[in-house]
Amino acid sequence: MHIHRSERVWLWFGVATLIVFLGLIGFAAIADGIQPPSHSQTIDPTKVAQTPPFDKPGIHQTGDHAVDAYMVARYPAFTPSTISIPAGTEVTFYVTSPDVVHGFYIEGTDVNMTIVPGWVSSSQHRFMTPGTYLLLCNEYCGVDHHFMYGSIEVK
Ligand code: CUA
Repeated sequence: MHIHRSERVWLWFGVATLIVFLGLIGFAAIADGIQPPSHSQTIDPTKVAQTPPFDKPGIHQTGDHAVDAYMVARYPAFTPSTISIPAGTEVTFYVTSPDVVHGFYIEGTDVNMTIVPGWVSSSQHRFMTPGTYLLLCNEYCGVDHHFMYGSIEVK
């Protein structure tokens, strides 16, 4: 089969680009240790509703101004969808998903996680300013993705 020279050059260019990109991804994963957020904790995604503490999602007081918030991201809602805390509380979020990949982004903070079934993602934030902080799913997860939101109420 005859392949025109320009076409051959273009084909090799495509193959070379693919190799370079795959190499860069491999390098980033190994050299920079890029992993899913808080890669230390895993969970059976088919048993989230039976696995403590995710069987009773919500807030657990861990100190005077510290709570752990266990939340489940299940299409198309977060459970619980709203959490209320006093100003100055440091919240450690633990979030998992029993179905598909979701996002977990809290407006005005650096809490921005990808929630992957089988993993427990974790992030921490101290809420100093009273107000309502919007919690959004920022990974497209289905036709009702835009209804997947909640709030953090800081009083
Ligand atoms: Cu969950 Cu988008």
